[in-house]
Amino acid sequence: MTASFPALRLRRTRASAWSRRLHAENTLTPADLIWPLFIASGDDEEPIASLPGVSRWPVARIAERAREAASLGIPCVALFPNTPHDRRSERGEEALNPDNLMCRAIRELKDAAPQIGVLTDVALDPYTAHGHDGIVDDAGYVLNDETVDVLVEQAVVQALAGADVIAPSDMMDGRVGAIRAALEENGLPNVQIMTYAAKYASAFYGPFRDAVGSRGLLKGDKATYQMDPANSEEALREVALDLAEGADSVMVKPGLPYLDIVARVKAEFRVPVFAYQVSGEYAMIEAAAAAGAGDRDALVLETLMAFKRAGCSGVLTYHAAHAARLLGI
Ligand code: PBG
Repeated sequence: MTASFPALRLRRTRASAWSRRLHAENTLTPADLIWPLFIASGDDEEPIASLPGVSRWPVARIAERAREAASLGIPCVALFPNTPHDRRSERGEEALNPDNLMCRAIRELKDAAPQIGVLTDVALDPYTAHGHDGIVDDAGYVLNDETVDVLVEQAVVQALAGADVIAPSDMMDGRVGAIRAALEENGLPNVQIMTYAAKYASAFYGPFRDAVGSRGLLKGDKATYQMDPANSEEALREVALDLAEGADSVMVKPGLPYLDIVARVKAEFRVPVFAYQVSGEYAMIEAAAAAGAGDRDALVLETLMAFKRAGCSGVLTYHAAHAARLLGI
């Protein structure tokens, strides 16, 4: 019997904490985190009911968040405005206003903590009266090329305000190349593009739409531009196109339900891949923890490590500050 006993016991290296640390194949640090922040148009902090623990911050208090990110070792924040409803319109012109909430927040952030990277979302949904990411025709279809023209202007406005990373989240065809060309023409060669390359039409975005005030406005769904959750080959085609058009890094979104896509993209292209652990995922973890189904801190760290294991360079997560506190610098 003992002759067949294993010489190799994989439990051996797991037997003590020092050895588990030594054999860890992946690491998670605050430097892996991008912290999404919502901007309020008023003067007060506005808690978001469907995202417990997350608030919209007035522009005047964005500097506090920037300094918090810096002190926690978080390298980058992502900004999302809750545009006042009287500034939303059919064509989302407010997106091009150099004094809109987004641009004011960018300037505040760069003033308060110039060492923190600022990533800005390019899409029209926080600015349109119908909640879609682009310009719609009479039938409600989002027009591709007309939308790209506006997104290019939006990206340049954000970059001129000081954004370091432009993140087009709209899923129009051809927008990465058009934005890249416009950034070069405007003397902004070092502004990065992190493209939402494989963004799925997901049920996990609900709380985000509350946060930017578009949930009640949205007519229909986004299935004619965001990807079908059934598809993965198509994700590779999306990534290939965005890279060919000049993207510096690519994003997969949502996160945990699409880790297979992250792993395939990383294996196929060997470029920096990011994932967005989206609002519904955050809410799910918070609900599980509140219901006593799991330990909140452990759930947060385990899910974030899963992104690293799948091949991510970093993760956008509403748990960024909390996770960074748990991890230490
Ligand atoms: C807007 C945008 C969305 C998210 C990021 N940018 C929502 C959507 O596409 O409807 C979702 C993020 C989240 O759920 O946390 N284009």
